[in-house]
Amino acid sequence: METTIAAPKPSSSAETDFLPLQGTDYVEFYVGNAKQAAHFYKTAFGFQSLAYSGPETGMKEKASYVIRQNKLTFVLTTPLRSNNPITEHIHKHGDGVKVLALKVEDATSAWEETTKRGGKSYLEPTTLTDDDGEVVMSGIHTYGDTVHLFIERGNYRGDFMPGFRKWESFYNPPETGLLYVDHCVGNVGWNQMNPWVKFYEEVMGFRNILTFDDKDISTEYSALMSKVMSNGNGFVKFPINEPAEGKKKSQVEEYLEFYNGEGVQHVAVATNDIVKTVTDLQKRGVEFLNIPASYYATVLDRVGHIDEDLEPLQRLGILVDRDEEGYLLQIFSKPVEDRPTLFFEIIQRKGAKSFGKGNFKALFEALEKEQDARGNL
Ligand code: FE2
Repeated sequence: METTIAAPKPSSSAETDFLPLQGTDYVEFYVGNAKQAAHFYKTAFGFQSLAYSGPETGMKEKASYVIRQNKLTFVLTTPLRSNNPITEHIHKHGDGVKVLALKVEDATSAWEETTKRGGKSYLEPTTLTDDDGEVVMSGIHTYGDTVHLFIERGNYRGDFMPGFRKWESFYNPPETGLLYVDHCVGNVGWNQMNPWVKFYEEVMGFRNILTFDDKDISTEYSALMSKVMSNGNGFVKFPINEPAEGKKKSQVEEYLEFYNGEGVQHVAVATNDIVKTVTDLQKRGVEFLNIPASYYATVLDRVGHIDEDLEPLQRLGILVDRDEEGYLLQIFSKPVEDRPTLFFEIIQRKGAKSFGKGNFKALFEALEKEQDARGNL
């Protein structure tokens, strides 16, 4: 398979985007204990309490905690009883991402346009109202048990959405400089990357802007393939990974085994000062992959001049890559639950619009060390 690095020509301005997206609205996680998970994300990542829904607000079956940092909003949801589809989701997958919610101007049109193109409905357009106005939401299924919700909040003034009350807490640890979702990566099964690329193209009007084959992303032991899908304005990017044949089990296969199916592998979050953010996150207990010193011996030969000193990058394990438009700094956390499934990427873009291809080898070798320690390589 050929590697395509250049993005295809942008669609002409005459062509209208049938699914205009204003960005990521929120990411919702189904977790075994949302109260404790919210505490973890506040403590470790610097999120602030925003809103709550549960039995006290009339929601009898689940509790949800909404936390925010700049434009990054997470919802942590847990079931209150055993006979509940959320309980089944957690039983099957462990803690993980259920919803990638996208901000739209018109949630009814988003649902109509995607379902008429073959998207499987998850939620028909539904209007929620309270004293602060109304939110319209709708949704379709994507890979695995993951869904996309379309959120229309133009006529809403409240903190989050109807059904939630403001969550005020005595515990408000400072933020860490996390800004917004840069991209969300999905892991899909063998031979499933292209069908899901087709889904994003046909159902959601996305374009394939980058392709990495198993020669780009392979180590001595394992390989994967990846295609990056982007919506028209580039605000929403979803890389899709599938495993490729290697001598040993790849990280995507390990994920599929422990998540028990397809799902979100990592959420990449932007910062304007990665050294400061990662120093802070590490102090608060976030664990990152260890990068060998040999990586830093040659990195500047590969990427040329960068504004940052190399010493803190090496100390923290921050990776650097360059493309035609600039460079980027990135780092990957270890999984944030005991199953080797979801992790986070912290990324600072200094012009570069790519995803760190030059780091794949170092990164995957670091991942394999962790896999080996778990006995899963
Ligand atoms: Fe990423």
